[in-house]
This record gives sequence, C-alpha cells and structure tokens, in this order.
Amino acid sequence: MDLYEHQARELFEAHGIVVPRAEVTDSAKEAREIARRLGGRAVVKAQVKTGGRGKAGGVKLAADPAAVEQTARRILGMDIRGHRVGKVMVAEPVDIEREFYVSYVLDRAAGGFLAIASAEGGMEIEEVAAQRPEAVARIPVDPKEGVTSAVAARIAAAAGLPERTADVLMRLWQVLVREDALLVEVNPLVLTRQGRILALDGKVTLDDNARFRQARWAADTVEHDDRLEAAAAARGLNYVKLDGQVGVIGNGAGLVMSTLDVVAGCGARPANFLDIGGGASARVMADGLSVILSDPDVKSVLVNVFGGITACDAVADGIVQAVETVKPTRPLVVRLDGNNAARGRAILDEHAHPLVHQATTMDGAAQRAADLANAS
Ligand SMILES: Nc1ncnc2c1ncn2[C@@H]1O[C@H](COP(=O)(O)OP(=O)(O)OP(=O)(O)O)[C@@H](O)[C@H]1O
Ligand SMILES: [Mg+2]
Repeated sequence: MDLYEHQARELFEAHGIVVPRAEVTDSAKEAREIARRLGGRAVVKAQVKTGGRGKAGGVKLAADPAAVEQTARRILGMDIRGHRVGKVMVAEPVDIEREFYVSYVLDRAAGGFLAIASAEGGMEIEEVAAQRPEAVARIPVDPKEGVTSAVAARIAAAAGLPERTADVLMRLWQVLVREDALLVEVNPLVLTRQGRILALDGKVTLDDNARFRQARWAADTVEHDDRLEAAAAARGLNYVKLDGQVGVIGNGAGLVMSTLDVVAGCGARPANFLDIGGGASARVMADGLSVILSDPDVKSVLVNVFGGITACDAVADGIVQAVETVKPTRPLVVRLDGNNAARGRAILDEHAHPLVHQATTMDGAAQRAADLANAS
C-alpha cells in the first residue's frame, strides 16, 4: 500500500526525521487559516499517490494567506496523472541550499535492500538517473546488518552527500524496518541556508503482508482510491486493482496471472487481479462479481475457471446465483474447462442470461471480453 505524502511525513517524524511544519486540509478556506498559523507564506502541495506533482503544477509557493487560499482552490480538484486531488498539504517554506535524493528499496532479485542516493535530488531526479547514472549511488544493504553508522557514512560518501546526512540515513532505515515498508524515499532531502537537514517530500510503500502487526495502519490509511481493494479485503478476496477495462475473475493465482497476460495480448487491459481460489462457491463468486462491477472502469468481465477439486457445474451454479444477486449491467464472458466442464456449460446455456456469453478456450474468451470492452 502506498501512502500519501502527509502520512509518510508522520512516519518520518515518529522516527525523528525533521520535516517542515505542515497541516493537511480539503478546504481552501482552511488552507488560509493554516498559512496564517505558519506565519503567512506557505507551500501548497497536492496530496496524490503519484509522482511528478511539482511538474504538473501541484506544488506552489504562495506569498500570504489569501494567496494560499487561492492556490489551494486551484489545486484542489485538479487531475494529476489520473489522480484527483482531494486534499492539500500546507507547509512552511524553507530556504533551500541544496537538494538530495535518498531511498531504500527492497531488491527482490538480490534478496536484500538497496540504498539509492544522489547529491542531485529534486524534481529532475528521473532525468539525472537516466542521463548520468553515475550521479546516483546504489549501495546494497544487508538486511541483517541494517544501516549502522558505518553503513550510513558509506552511503553518504558514495553519493557525495554531506556527512551530517548519515543520521537521517539511519533514521530512514528505522522507518523501513519498524513500519514494515518496502520502499522509503525522501526527495528532496534538503540542506537549508541555515544549515539544517530536512525531509521536504516523502514516499512510503508499506508491505501489505505485515498489516496484521501494524496497529498504526488504521482504517483511515485506506482512502477512497483504495475503496475497491478495501471492499475486497473486507470480503476476504485476493483482489488487486489495475487500470484497465476488463474485469478478471479466475481460480488460482497462476491462472489469473496468465489471464491478465492473455487479455493484454488481445488488445485490452485488465481492470484487476482477482483469485477466488479453489473453493469458488456461489457466495465467493457473487462477492467477486460485485466488487468488480462496482469499479466504474470495468466494461466487460472475464470469468476464467479451470475446474479441479471444485467441479465446473458447481462453479456454473455459483455464477447463476451470483448473476441473480448482483444483476450485472455489463457483459460477462465465461470460460469453463476441466472437471465437469460440459455440465457446467450446460447449466449456463439453460440459464441463458442475455449478458452472459460462453467461450470454450481461454484465448477465445479473452478476445471476446477484450472486444466487448473496446466496443463499449
Ligand atoms: N516546504 C517547502 N519549502 C520550499 N520548497 C519546497 C517545499 N516543499 C517542496 N518544495 C520544492 O518543491 C519541489 C517539489 O516538491 P515535492 O518534492 O514535494 O514534489 P514532487 O517531487 O514534484 O512530487 P513527487 O515527489 O510526488 O514527484 C521540491 O523539490 C522543492 O524544491
Ligand atoms: Mg518529490
């Protein structure tokens, strides 16, 4: 789960990383009040879970409370790469001398973590990394050793950061470990004209598998754009929202993963990953369908089931009941194969729902679902 900047900032603060004073609001009027409390001038920052906010006009300095209100009014509701701005952070402006980049990220291939750091942080870091990779230091971190003061000093030296950033590097590692994060990033970490080191922007991705032991991740961390995933989680479904138009339901993670690939190969994009597992009961099918159909992006649904322990006739019964409960408004393409496939298909034929189509192969079903999504 990705966090908003203001949530990342709270975690940084909890581990002693210095951040500018700031408050979050969804109202331009309140933004004005916050600016007043901060001393007048303030930076207004769009809170969206995507990068490049500054370049999109979502980070602006305003000279006084009235200007902050105006700026907040412009930024609230703005669309940044498909993310609507619902809240802004109003932050105390700092006098920047230099901007650095620092992050720790899980390196699955290496079975460890990677520290990435650069003395050329800021909004152009992607360009720096692409054009002059030597300006970005990449240092493996042994997860058992962690970032000790010696390791922090090594990272700072490799990236050309001031020695004093070692303290932040150690604290940022604590954020990663204690908060169960897969990624922690500060860009920019700044040196101010007054000689202070502050984290001006933060990005944190938490490891969802650690949710059970993180009391801090209360319901309020899950906001509207995670609504579908939260609804699915509440029903115990293994669902991941993606950004396409073809809803996908399948049984078994491997089958669902390959279904996503086949949909993409048919010229459409999957709207989600949903594995309803081996059981695939009517109840689970109905829950899955209702989550998928509550996604306004979905234009068609592909149900791809390979009957194993659960026979296809039981799955077909599940689909019939699910369709009666959920009352789909968009077409479903169903491919049943494996154990009792013929009986399962006969059940769907008998039921003859106008929005339920059948296909006998996975490729055929994916093509049909892709065509239906592209035609609507
Ligand atoms: N409190 C602040 N005071 C002064 N300048 C700031 C402040 N916050 C941000 N800035 C400036 O604005 C730039 C962009 O801000 P920020 O890093 O938060 O957004 P961004 O990098 O565009 O967003 P993202 O990291 O999501 O791509 C910073 O590099 C910094 O120069
Ligand atoms: Mg940034």
